[in-house]
Amino acid sequence: MCGIIARIGDDDSAVDELITGLENLEYRGYDSAGVAIKNGGGPEVFKRQGKISRLKDVLAGEVPDGGLGIGHTRWSTHGPPTDENAHPHTDCTGEVAVVHNGIIENYDELRSELASRGHEFESDTDTEVIPHLVEEELARGASPELAFRRTIRKLSGSYAVAMITERDHAVYATRRGSPLVLGVSDGEYFLASDVPAFLDFTEEVIYLDDGDVVVVRSDDYEISTLDGQTVERSVSTVEWDPEDAGKGGYDHYMLKEIHEQPTALRQTLRGRADGTTGEVHLEDFPAGSFEQVERVQFVACGTSYHAGLVGAGFLSGGGVPAQTFLASEYATSPAPVDEDTLVVGVTQSGETADTLSALRKANASGARTLAVTNVVGSTAARECDDALFIRAGPEIGVAATKTFSSQVVSLSLLAERIARDVTGSPTEESRERLAALDELPGQVQQILDYSNAQKIAKQYRDSDAYFFIGRGTVFPVALEGALKFKEISYEHAEGFAAGELKHGPLALVTPKTPIFAVFTGENDEKTLGNVKEAEARGAPIVAVASEDHEEVAQHADHVLTIPETHPDVAGVLANVQLQLLSYHAADLLGRPIDKPRNLAKSVTVE
Ligand code: M6R
Repeated sequence: MCGIIARIGDDDSAVDELITGLENLEYRGYDSAGVAIKNGGGPEVFKRQGKISRLKDVLAGEVPDGGLGIGHTRWSTHGPPTDENAHPHTDCTGEVAVVHNGIIENYDELRSELASRGHEFESDTDTEVIPHLVEEELARGASPELAFRRTIRKLSGSYAVAMITERDHAVYATRRGSPLVLGVSDGEYFLASDVPAFLDFTEEVIYLDDGDVVVVRSDDYEISTLDGQTVERSVSTVEWDPEDAGKGGYDHYMLKEIHEQPTALRQTLRGRADGTTGEVHLEDFPAGSFEQVERVQFVACGTSYHAGLVGAGFLSGGGVPAQTFLASEYATSPAPVDEDTLVVGVTQSGETADTLSALRKANASGARTLAVTNVVGSTAARECDDALFIRAGPEIGVAATKTFSSQVVSLSLLAERIARDVTGSPTEESRERLAALDELPGQVQQILDYSNAQKIAKQYRDSDAYFFIGRGTVFPVALEGALKFKEISYEHAEGFAAGELKHGPLALVTPKTPIFAVFTGENDEKTLGNVKEAEARGAPIVAVASEDHEEVAQHADHVLTIPETHPDVAGVLANVQLQLLSYHAADLLGRPIDKPRNLAKSVTVE
């Protein structure tokens, strides 16, 4: 996730404080950093791909004085991580500098219009349209504030934006769908994507609302609506331990990332699916992109493998032959691979050695390769023929949480695109699934608001083992539930296809082995039959099911409820409950949740 920082004061501390702010935002993940400083004349821009230390090296030679500046850490979404794509971005005259977090959905259209009027662009970013639009308004005689407001009206998508210009000593900023907070101190103000950015300088914070426009000068600030009506926002005092500040007030990154899922999913879906019309727009994959595809193979590891299993289910359901392979097993697989085979590497980091090796094998066999990843400049994204970015934002906890949800949603859109190209127009079923995806971020939020997973984790904390079962689209969710549970709690946990319980694992079932059974509203009768088998052996039953599933409730000791939705989408919701269960179980045991023993976030050896 990109990070914004702005500092306004009358002394010359802008550079130092902006750099501190950027370092405090590092936890959000980034691949380039930059600042624009104003000292009398126009904004001077310094930016570099890579770590903040590289930016500091550049600044070391020529530290500009000045009290006003904006800074940014970039997490690539449009264009690779390069010096040119790093923020701040400027207009043709160099008079305007802008930093931005979020996605401008209509940037293609705006950019073409601006280019046709003679504007020249230096980057691949969506952000760069903003300073050029402001430039046009200034040229028409608008003040910086009016130019900013008129420009913001032309944008669609999600954004937090901060702007400085040569013309005055002020920062203009606004937010819609991306966070922005105002820090208030004696003789200086800050704007940032998150409080930790300025916690070294002030604990007084104003949380801005969507649609707020803020104009900040050295001695004052004004908050108003886009139409110019003044709004009052109260100042709060933050009492955070600076060490924990990067976690945004959560005890662990994992919990923070679980809670980020509604936002992450909105980002994954933004501009890509229309539940009303049934349209799917995957930026680099227009209709017809996959006409040649005869079969699809997914290669992945761990949590990403589970997402791949869900993806193969979506494709097979749409009439396209699809299989999922553990990447480490792919080298020995006899599955046919030719130029009509699409091999999809599902990998959050884009750096997992087993997955890269499988993709290279596929490539050498003539297959078309596609990376579904969270990291724009990753090896998988660079080496594959194509890439689809899941846009979940950086994930710091070793346990994959929000990236699983965003992978599943990305794969459902990809499957939709491929199935339509291969087999024809959208079915009623696929329209219903897209409509359900529209509701998904809000439904995940409901679960986060009411989940009783902590209570259930407490109830079963002294168990011998934990079993997870599911059928069809939620068999992978049972596997994922168990992987997450063992990974962070160090307790024995296994996931099974519900129907397999009676073919062996039932021998392990006792009153000390709770069974977590996932129901989607499809094939529930059969899963219920398997639950009864475990119930008869005295096992406690925890169902993950929709609220009004009375029959399930009758056979369960507890229910982790999920909102009613399409059966293909229910797994994402059920998985959120299971993430919370694992988190709380591990927390009760005092485990180092963000860095479980023996594991790494990115596994770069085979
Ligand atoms: O970066 P990747 O998605 O390729 O990583 C694959 C696995 O190492 C990863 O999903 C791992 O299983 C997670 N830590 C599980 O939470």
